[in-house]
Amino acid sequence: MYVPIVIGSLRQGRNTPRLARFLHNRLESRGVETQLFDPREMALPVLEERLRLLENPPSALVEFGAAIDRADAVIIATPEYNKGYPAALKNMIDALGAEWKRKPLGIVAHSVGAFGGGQVLQALRLVMLNLGAVPIPASMTVPHIDKTFDADGAATDPAFNDRGDRFLDELLWFADALAVARAASSD
Ligand SMILES: Cc1cc2nc3c(=O)[nH]c(=O)nc-3n(C[C@H](O)[C@H](O)[C@H](O)COP(=O)(O)O)c2cc1C
Repeated sequence: MYVPIVIGSLRQGRNTPRLARFLHNRLESRGVETQLFDPREMALPVLEERLRLLENPPSALVEFGAAIDRADAVIIATPEYNKGYPAALKNMIDALGAEWKRKPLGIVAHSVGAFGGGQVLQALRLVMLNLGAVPIPASMTVPHIDKTFDADGAATDPAFNDRGDRFLDELLWFADALAVARAASSD
Protein backbone atom coordinates (compact mmCIF):
# COMPACT_ATOMS: atom_id res chain seq x y z
CA MET A 1 0.00 0.00 0.00
CA TYR A 2 1.51 3.32 -1.12
CA VAL A 3 -0.15 6.62 -0.18
CA PRO A 4 1.75 9.77 -1.19
CA ILE A 5 0.81 13.10 0.40
CA VAL A 6 0.76 16.34 -1.58
CA ILE A 7 1.58 19.54 0.32
CA GLY A 8 -0.65 22.21 -1.18
CA SER A 9 1.26 25.37 -0.30
CA LEU A 10 4.71 26.84 -0.90
CA ARG A 11 4.26 30.11 0.97
CA GLN A 12 7.12 31.36 3.17
CA GLY A 13 6.37 30.36 6.77
CA ARG A 14 3.57 28.08 5.65
CA ASN A 15 1.54 25.90 8.01
CA THR A 16 0.44 23.11 5.63
CA PRO A 17 3.50 20.89 6.30
CA ARG A 18 2.31 20.55 9.93
CA LEU A 19 -0.84 18.78 8.74
CA ALA A 20 0.95 16.80 6.04
CA ARG A 21 3.55 15.58 8.55
CA PHE A 22 0.79 14.62 11.01
CA LEU A 23 -0.79 12.34 8.39
CA HIS A 24 2.62 11.09 7.21
CA ASN A 25 3.45 10.06 10.79
CA ARG A 26 0.10 8.30 11.31
CA LEU A 27 0.41 6.39 8.03
CA GLU A 28 3.94 5.30 8.90
CA SER A 29 2.78 4.10 12.31
CA ARG A 30 0.35 1.80 10.44
CA GLY A 31 3.16 0.46 8.28
CA VAL A 32 1.84 2.19 5.15
CA GLU A 33 4.45 3.36 2.64
CA THR A 34 4.11 7.11 2.21
CA GLN A 35 6.01 10.10 0.85
CA LEU A 36 5.60 13.86 0.99
CA PHE A 37 5.50 15.83 -2.27
CA ASP A 38 6.43 19.42 -1.54
CA PRO A 39 6.04 22.11 -4.23
CA ARG A 40 8.73 24.16 -2.51
CA GLU A 41 11.30 21.42 -3.07
CA MET A 42 9.96 20.45 -6.50
CA ALA A 43 10.19 24.04 -7.79
CA LEU A 44 8.05 23.31 -10.86
CA PRO A 45 7.67 26.03 -13.46
CA VAL A 46 4.18 27.42 -14.01
CA LEU A 47 2.51 24.93 -16.28
CA GLU A 48 3.09 25.41 -20.00
CA GLU A 49 2.15 21.84 -20.88
CA ARG A 50 1.20 18.58 -19.19
CA LEU A 51 3.82 16.01 -18.28
CA ARG A 52 2.88 13.54 -21.03
CA LEU A 53 3.40 16.20 -23.72
CA LEU A 54 6.67 17.68 -22.45
CA GLU A 55 9.84 16.78 -24.33
CA ASN A 56 12.18 17.44 -21.40
CA PRO A 57 10.07 17.36 -18.24
CA PRO A 58 11.65 18.37 -14.92
CA SER A 59 12.76 15.25 -13.04
CA ALA A 60 10.68 16.29 -10.01
CA LEU A 61 7.58 16.23 -12.20
CA VAL A 62 8.48 12.83 -13.68
CA GLU A 63 8.90 11.46 -10.15
CA PHE A 64 5.60 12.99 -9.05
CA GLY A 65 3.74 11.55 -12.04
CA ALA A 66 5.15 8.09 -11.40
CA ALA A 67 4.23 8.32 -7.73
CA ILE A 68 0.61 9.28 -8.38
CA ASP A 69 0.37 6.58 -11.04
CA ARG A 70 1.66 3.92 -8.63
CA ALA A 71 -0.33 5.17 -5.63
CA ASP A 72 -3.09 3.08 -4.08
CA ALA A 73 -4.55 6.33 -2.73
CA VAL A 74 -3.44 9.95 -2.51
CA ILE A 75 -3.83 12.58 0.21
CA ILE A 76 -3.88 16.28 -0.63
CA ALA A 77 -3.30 18.63 2.31
CA THR A 78 -4.42 22.09 1.27
CA PRO A 79 -4.94 25.49 2.83
CA GLU A 80 -7.85 27.69 1.81
CA TYR A 81 -6.73 30.67 -0.24
CA ASN A 82 -9.54 33.11 -1.00
CA LYS A 83 -12.07 30.26 -0.63
CA GLY A 84 -10.17 28.20 -3.22
CA TYR A 85 -6.91 26.24 -3.60
CA PRO A 86 -3.39 27.65 -3.95
CA ALA A 87 -1.99 28.12 -7.45
CA ALA A 88 1.01 25.92 -6.59
CA LEU A 89 -1.32 23.00 -5.85
CA LYS A 90 -3.37 23.47 -9.02
CA ASN A 91 -0.10 23.65 -10.96
CA MET A 92 0.86 20.19 -9.68
CA ILE A 93 -2.60 18.73 -10.27
CA ASP A 94 -2.93 20.02 -13.84
CA ALA A 95 0.51 18.77 -14.85
CA LEU A 96 -0.86 15.21 -14.67
CA GLY A 97 -3.93 13.62 -16.23
CA ALA A 98 -4.56 9.88 -16.49
CA GLU A 99 -2.42 9.33 -13.38
CA TRP A 100 -5.38 10.59 -11.30
CA LYS A 101 -7.99 8.33 -12.90
CA ARG A 102 -9.91 6.14 -10.38
CA LYS A 103 -7.44 7.14 -7.67
CA PRO A 104 -8.95 7.21 -4.18
CA LEU A 105 -8.32 10.68 -2.86
CA GLY A 106 -8.47 12.04 0.68
CA ILE A 107 -8.63 15.80 0.98
CA VAL A 108 -7.57 17.48 4.21
CA ALA A 109 -8.15 21.21 4.36
CA HIS A 110 -7.15 23.79 6.91
CA SER A 111 -7.02 27.45 7.76
CA VAL A 112 -5.83 29.62 10.60
CA GLY A 113 -9.41 30.75 11.12
CA ALA A 114 -12.35 28.97 12.74
CA PHE A 115 -13.81 27.36 9.60
CA GLY A 116 -10.94 25.03 8.70
CA GLY A 117 -11.02 25.34 4.94
CA GLY A 118 -14.50 23.95 4.28
CA GLN A 119 -14.85 25.87 1.03
CA VAL A 120 -11.55 24.75 -0.53
CA LEU A 121 -12.56 21.18 0.27
CA GLN A 122 -15.68 21.49 -1.89
CA ALA A 123 -13.84 23.35 -4.67
CA LEU A 124 -11.04 20.81 -4.86
CA ARG A 125 -13.44 17.87 -4.92
CA LEU A 126 -14.96 19.20 -8.16
CA VAL A 127 -11.54 19.65 -9.76
CA MET A 128 -10.48 16.14 -8.86
CA LEU A 129 -13.74 14.56 -10.00
CA ASN A 130 -13.14 16.19 -13.37
CA LEU A 131 -9.80 14.37 -13.55
CA GLY A 132 -11.49 11.04 -12.81
CA ALA A 133 -10.14 10.76 -9.28
CA VAL A 134 -12.39 9.39 -6.53
CA PRO A 135 -12.57 11.88 -3.65
CA ILE A 136 -13.78 9.83 -0.68
CA PRO A 137 -16.88 10.99 1.24
CA ALA A 138 -14.90 11.39 4.47
CA SER A 139 -12.97 14.59 4.88
CA MET A 140 -10.90 16.33 7.47
CA THR A 141 -10.94 20.05 8.08
CA VAL A 142 -8.63 21.69 10.58
CA PRO A 143 -9.32 25.14 12.04
CA HIS A 144 -6.58 27.10 13.78
CA ILE A 145 -3.88 25.03 12.06
CA ASP A 146 -1.09 27.04 13.70
CA LYS A 147 -2.29 25.96 17.17
CA THR A 148 -3.48 22.42 16.35
CA PHE A 149 -0.22 20.84 15.16
CA ASP A 150 3.37 21.63 15.95
CA ALA A 151 6.06 21.91 13.24
CA ASP A 152 6.80 18.17 13.46
CA GLY A 153 3.15 17.28 12.94
CA ALA A 154 2.29 16.36 16.52
CA ALA A 155 -1.29 17.19 17.49
CA THR A 156 -1.60 19.57 20.43
CA ASP A 157 -5.14 18.24 21.01
CA PRO A 158 -5.04 14.41 21.23
CA ALA A 159 -8.60 14.28 19.82
CA PHE A 160 -7.03 14.95 16.42
CA ASN A 161 -5.21 11.62 16.57
CA ASP A 162 -8.59 9.82 16.60
CA ARG A 163 -9.98 12.10 13.90
CA GLY A 164 -6.95 11.49 11.72
CA ASP A 165 -7.17 7.74 12.21
CA ARG A 166 -10.89 7.64 11.34
CA PHE A 167 -10.16 9.61 8.16
CA LEU A 168 -7.31 7.27 7.22
CA ASP A 169 -9.51 4.20 7.97
CA GLU A 170 -11.95 5.46 5.35
CA LEU A 171 -9.27 6.31 2.79
CA LEU A 172 -7.60 2.91 3.15
CA TRP A 173 -11.01 1.19 2.86
CA PHE A 174 -11.49 2.84 -0.53
CA ALA A 175 -7.91 2.05 -1.50
CA ASP A 176 -8.50 -1.65 -0.76
CA ALA A 177 -11.88 -1.68 -2.52
CA LEU A 178 -10.64 0.00 -5.69
CA ALA A 179 -7.51 -2.18 -5.76
CA VAL A 180 -9.79 -5.23 -5.96
CA ALA A 181 -11.81 -3.60 -8.74
CA ARG A 182 -8.63 -2.66 -10.64
CA ALA A 183 -7.27 -6.18 -10.40
CA ALA A 184 -10.53 -7.58 -11.80
CA SER A 185 -10.72 -5.09 -14.68
CA SER A 186 -8.87 -4.99 -17.99
CA ASP A 187 -9.80 -1.30 -18.48
C1 LIG B 1 -3.42 34.29 -0.19
C2 LIG B 1 -4.13 33.85 1.06
C3 LIG B 1 -5.50 33.72 1.06
C4 LIG B 1 -6.18 33.27 2.20
N1 LIG B 1 -7.52 33.07 2.15
C5 LIG B 1 -8.15 32.46 3.20
C6 LIG B 1 -9.51 32.08 3.08
O1 LIG B 1 -10.16 32.24 2.08
N2 LIG B 1 -10.09 31.49 4.17
C7 LIG B 1 -9.40 31.25 5.33
O2 LIG B 1 -9.97 30.70 6.27
N3 LIG B 1 -8.10 31.60 5.47
C8 LIG B 1 -7.46 32.20 4.42
N4 LIG B 1 -6.13 32.54 4.51
C9 LIG B 1 -5.40 32.29 5.76
C10 LIG B 1 -4.86 30.86 5.75
O3 LIG B 1 -5.81 30.02 6.36
C11 LIG B 1 -3.55 30.74 6.52
O4 LIG B 1 -2.62 31.71 6.08
C12 LIG B 1 -2.93 29.35 6.37
O5 LIG B 1 -1.82 29.24 7.23
C13 LIG B 1 -2.51 29.13 4.91
O6 LIG B 1 -1.79 27.93 4.73
P1 LIG B 1 -0.18 28.00 4.49
O7 LIG B 1 0.38 28.62 5.75
O8 LIG B 1 0.25 26.60 4.32
O9 LIG B 1 0.07 28.85 3.29
C14 LIG B 1 -5.45 33.00 3.38
C15 LIG B 1 -4.04 33.16 3.38
C16 LIG B 1 -3.39 33.56 2.22
C17 LIG B 1 -1.88 33.66 2.24
